[in-house]
Amino acid sequence: MWVDGAARVACVTPARRVNGRRVTTLKGLDPPVRARWARAFSALGASQCGFCTPGIVMRLAALEGRGAGFDEQAVCRALTAHLCRCTGWRTIVEAAALAMSEPGSRAGPGSGRDLQAAARRAEIEGGAGQRVGEDVVLGDGGFADDTAPVAALVAVAGSDGTWAVGETLLAAQRAARRVQGRHSSAGLRHPLELPPGEFVLTLRTTFVEPAYLEPDSSWCEPGGEPATPLANGGAFGGKLHSPLPAAARALADRHGRTTRVLWSRQDVVRHGPKRPPIAAGVRADGSGVIRVARTPGSPDLGPWQQAVGAAAPGFAVEEVAVAGPPVSPDIRAAGWAEAAVLRAAFEARVSGEAEGRGAGPVTIVSPGGARATVAIGADGVVSVEVSAGEVLDQVVLRSYVIGAVHQALGWVRREGIAVAEDGTVLDLTIRSFGILPARDMPPVEVSVVDAEGPARRAGDAVLAATAAAAWLAAGLPPAWPVERGG
Ligand code: FES
Repeated sequence: MWVDGAARVACVTPARRVNGRRVTTLKGLDPPVRARWARAFSALGASQCGFCTPGIVMRLAALEGRGAGFDEQAVCRALTAHLCRCTGWRTIVEAAALAMSEPGSRAGPGSGRDLQAAARRAEIEGGAGQRVGEDVVLGDGGFADDTAPVAALVAVAGSDGTWAVGETLLAAQRAARRVQGRHSSAGLRHPLELPPGEFVLTLRTTFVEPAYLEPDSSWCEPGGEPATPLANGGAFGGKLHSPLPAAARALADRHGRTTRVLWSRQDVVRHGPKRPPIAAGVRADGSGVIRVARTPGSPDLGPWQQAVGAAAPGFAVEEVAVAGPPVSPDIRAAGWAEAAVLRAAFEARVSGEAEGRGAGPVTIVSPGGARATVAIGADGVVSVEVSAGEVLDQVVLRSYVIGAVHQALGWVRREGIAVAEDGTVLDLTIRSFGILPARDMPPVEVSVVDAEGPARRAGDAVLAATAAAAWLAAGLPPAWPVERGG
């Protein structure tokens, strides 16, 4: 939003600070300006779930209002206050270039697209129903809590794990007596020791937050069917086993009233599923062992083990119980991506490529049959060639490819959350996850190979191939994230 014309992050601005001042939201933006930004974002796939987008548009429209014209560095600096998990920033920067350099343009690249086909591609990539269009840019993609009846009771999580219920959100929050989330300065830990053995390549990872931006929510009438926490996108698999629908149903039945259940950001970090940490070793003959962390409250990791077996048949999997937040086999490409990365890195090392070229190209085929080849140049530029069956929509496919590159680079280089020895999550703000900001995201060159057959999910193959290339480029250090010490 703007406060007296200056962009401010609405979610962390207390209402008392805007008392008596002029607040402008996206709805208050000059309609032709708003429409121009919406067109540019939609034309370049700069919005996926759309949760971050209205704030970003307001930020960039404020920058434009200062009259300097498009400047990539200024745009990336302006985006520092924002987080977008889905798009990988590059499409947002491109949309800014389009909107700011052609203020009168009515159409951009991608005009005349079939938005139904685009939505199908988004659904395949995101793993859940998803709309594509200018209204999504404007915040109308639809979020899980949008449909909750106004008169519903509100339930929020108390610090002891029970639900505090009130007539309003404020009343429920007061009853919950919660402690505000914070960012600790604690270092990351790698909770698993390497398995014993003679290895030529080892890797340890830590707890990684899937970092979907829209927190879980659900609501339910007494005796009714609870609303799904999945809205415009799939949350990288993180909401598949969300406990909120069952809680909404139980609370509605107990109170005889429609009840709305909300997780805050820190609730998602404390209780939502993480990518499980691993400790793995590959032997000289290419066989290996992957240890995976199993924490209290986690679903069965059987699917994770099967995924590893499919991607790397010579790898044994050991589950090791450790303290920590819940982990899940549902998180994007869990298990097979780790196994595929280890195998690709091992093969590159054996063939001498790891020393000679450092950064690929690495080719990985996903269990679904999508193929991605990724190379990282000496200048950091990421080149991706992807083949994923029927394209359906170039703009959306390219946007998901760049989003997967962003997530992979973050995973290898910076992402992780600090967890104490007793399993308590220490970093509760979204800032602490280590998501790469716009200024640290390299250019990504995407080429899409037209392939026979049905559309297949491309993003997971791109995630794994980029992670392998980024690890090779870093020289295969034995722990991720490679740029944050433990
Ligand atoms: S589009 Fe930015 S967080 Fe989903």
